[in-house]
Amino acid sequence: MKALTKDSRNEIDMPLVGFGTYQLSPEEAESSVTEALKAGYRHIDSAEGYNNEEGTGRALKASSLSRDDFFITTKLFPGNKQWGAPEKTYEQTIETLKKQLIDLQLDHVDLYLIHAPLAELRLEQWKALVELKKLGLTKHIGVSNYDETRINEILNAGWPKPEVNQIEFHPINTQPNLTKFMNENSIAPIAYSSLAPLANWRMAEGQGGEVLAEKKQNAQVVITEVANELAVSEAKLLLRWGLQRGYSILTRSTKPKRIQENIDLFDFEISEHYMDRLNQLNQDQPFAWAANGLNPMEAAPEL
Ligand SMILES: NC(=O)c1ccc[n+]([C@@H]2O[C@H](COP(=O)([O-])OP(=O)(O)OC[C@H]3O[C@@H](n4cnc5c(N)ncnc54)[C@H](OP(=O)(O)O)[C@@H]3O)[C@@H](O)[C@H]2O)c1
Repeated sequence: MKALTKDSRNEIDMPLVGFGTYQLSPEEAESSVTEALKAGYRHIDSAEGYNNEEGTGRALKASSLSRDDFFITTKLFPGNKQWGAPEKTYEQTIETLKKQLIDLQLDHVDLYLIHAPLAELRLEQWKALVELKKLGLTKHIGVSNYDETRINEILNAGWPKPEVNQIEFHPINTQPNLTKFMNENSIAPIAYSSLAPLANWRMAEGQGGEVLAEKKQNAQVVITEVANELAVSEAKLLLRWGLQRGYSILTRSTKPKRIQENIDLFDFEISEHYMDRLNQLNQDQPFAWAANGLNPMEAAPEL
């Protein structure tokens, strides 16, 4: 394994440790992203659906970083008929990124993703992402929450392949078949919600961390034991595990101490023995969308 450092990047030059902005108000996004940039994060993960991009934009603008010094990902909310949210057409997809760039105060993003395969129009949306890359409004394009079948829809239609797939990934949800498929097709993995196995994950009012909490209990015993053996926090153990599995990771906190802790991952290593113990906790059980009553991988409408 190549030595991991704070400056390590993946195939598309994305810094391996990223800072997420889900469930933050615009004001919290502004203060947390400011704190994250100070702590050394150089990848920020955003989304149209987080409704806070103007806060992230203010933090980026106020930082002294030049544009080439940071990598920013954002996502298209595709729409979903079942939720009564109109599906985005090709033209609306193009216009959506243009509007997001205004909020972010940027002239391009580094990576643009379809947030989930929630729309029947998903191939038309992908075609628009290909065009957005040609226009220079994003350097790279990819998907999120796509399973093998949905990625194959794109490949079989003859369109350029997604460069990345952003998915929920932690020891209780390793999705071995999907990750093998992505590896074979050179689709870079970005892991979100790496901290989902923690007992106190998303416990603030309205964040939904209590849903399916009982499914984590057995895994938590092992995670606590291994973290104690290595004398690191459980959060650091889970994040470092993701890095050693070859994933870019995303983490999010409103607390400066934790923001710093979550990027200090390069002064210890998890041995093969402990990696194996953690890998054995897999149940292919996602948690991130569970409070909305769904698994985004399974929510795709038929084309
Ligand atoms: N594509 C998708 O569908 C999708 C889905 C989910 C997430 N994401 C992206 O991935 C990012 C990360 O996922 P996430 O928001 O679920 O975040 P996460 O980093 O997995 O978990 C955040 C939760 O853990 C707590 N926490 C953070 N650091 C901690 C530490 N060192 N020790 C103990 N607890 C800690 C936070 O509380 P405090 O804030 O109180 O510290 C919060 O409750 C998102 O923000 C978003 O950008 C994408």
